[in-house]
Formats: sequence, structure tokens, C-alpha cells
Amino acid sequence: MPSPHPTLLAPSILAGDHANLRSSLKTIEDAALEWVHLDIMDGHFVPNLSFGPQTIKAMRPDSTLFFDVHLMLDNPHLYIDAFLDAGAQQITIHVEPDYPVADTLAYIKSKGCKCGVVLNPDTPAEDAKEFLSACDIVLLMTVQPGFGGQSFRHDVLPKIEQFDRWRKELGLDYRLEIDGGVDLETAPLCTQRGADTLVAGTAFFKATDPAAFIQSVTA
Ligand code: DX5
Ligand code: ZN
Repeated sequence: MPSPHPTLLAPSILAGDHANLRSSLKTIEDAALEWVHLDIMDGHFVPNLSFGPQTIKAMRPDSTLFFDVHLMLDNPHLYIDAFLDAGAQQITIHVEPDYPVADTLAYIKSKGCKCGVVLNPDTPAEDAKEFLSACDIVLLMTVQPGFGGQSFRHDVLPKIEQFDRWRKELGLDYRLEIDGGVDLETAPLCTQRGADTLVAGTAFFKATDPAAFIQSVTA
């Protein structure tokens, strides 16, 4: 089913230049894109560390991009205020750890920030169904989170279709975002199934022709 939203490409700055994040933001802006995807890792929920709210806060005055913050944390509810204060405009939180997911979504929303849930590749769609009415976006991981540059998990494709079906059946209008291994070949597999928001790290920042990639993904 076609999504109710125009397709967006959200480059993940994880694959950018961490000694010069300003230049990576500019690369996104120069490509006339509107979102940047910010991957936050705690070294516990995922086996890697990235950066924190201080870095996002430092980037905020330099950019008009929409800050899409993906929290890969065991205790995301303890850090919401820090990311709101840093300038997040959307915060997505995983359903796998044990913390009050519904209350955290409500809190994010009460602060005027968009919110949504994230599912790992092996997490059943049903685990997120109860939260859907509170979500502006649902983020489906197509790699095990923690590292850029991994291969797209084709076995997640039916889950994209499931969330697209629920969006229609339940009369909701959340965005459907895909994260991990998105490239020229895998992007159409996602958009054909109702995805409208594509995160790309490696395929955007390491592309020989980023303009061609963007055009093919968002056409
Ligand atoms: C993985 C991150 C992704 C990752 C995507 O933990 O959530 O956003 O950076 O990178 P690529 O596009 O290289 O798979
Ligand atoms: Zn991400």
C-alpha cells in the first residue's frame, strides 16, 4: 500500500566524519534533505558507544535539519530530558528493554516532541501494537543495531507489510521508518511495502554519487 507520507531519506551521521560533524551536517543540507538520523548507543543495550546529548546540543545551532534521535539505550526514560534539551525533534525508543514504554512515549509527546517505537529485527510486530496509537513513527531495524555497514535483513520485509496494514486498519498515520543496510537495491523493497522514511548511513556518506542515490530513493 502506498504510504500517506512522502518518502524521506534520513542520513545517519554515524557514518559521517566524527572529527567534523559540522561538515557531515552540511553534506546532508547541501543534498537538500530535511532530516538527520542521530544514533545513540549505550554500550549495553547494543555493544557499541556513539555520542550523547552534549554532541547533539553542540550541533543544534549549526543546523536547520530535523533531528531524528534513535535511542539504543537500556534506560531511555532516564535520558529524555537531556535529549529534549539538546534539541531533539523526534525521539524513538526500543520496545525490548524493561522500562515504562507507554509512559515514556507520553512524556516525550507532552514536551512537544515527536515520538515512536523501535523494533529489532527479531522482535515480533505484536510487541509494539499496543503503543501504535501514541506513535508518530515506527522504526523497524533491518540490522541488529550497534554498527553501521551491515547487510540488510530481508526477513524483516513481512514486518514492514504488517505495520503498513495496521496503519490502515487502525486508522493511524505513523511514519514507517527503516534502519540498516538501506541502499539502492534494498530501498525499493521497503518503499514498495509501505515504508516512507529511510535511514542510510553507509549508502549516503560513502556513495560515489549521493545525488543519484537520493533521487532513486525518494523518486
Ligand atoms: C545501527 C544504526 C543505523 C546505522 C545505519 O545501529 O541504528 O542507523 O547507522 O547504517 P547503515 O546504513 O550503514 O546500515
Ligand atoms: Zn538508527
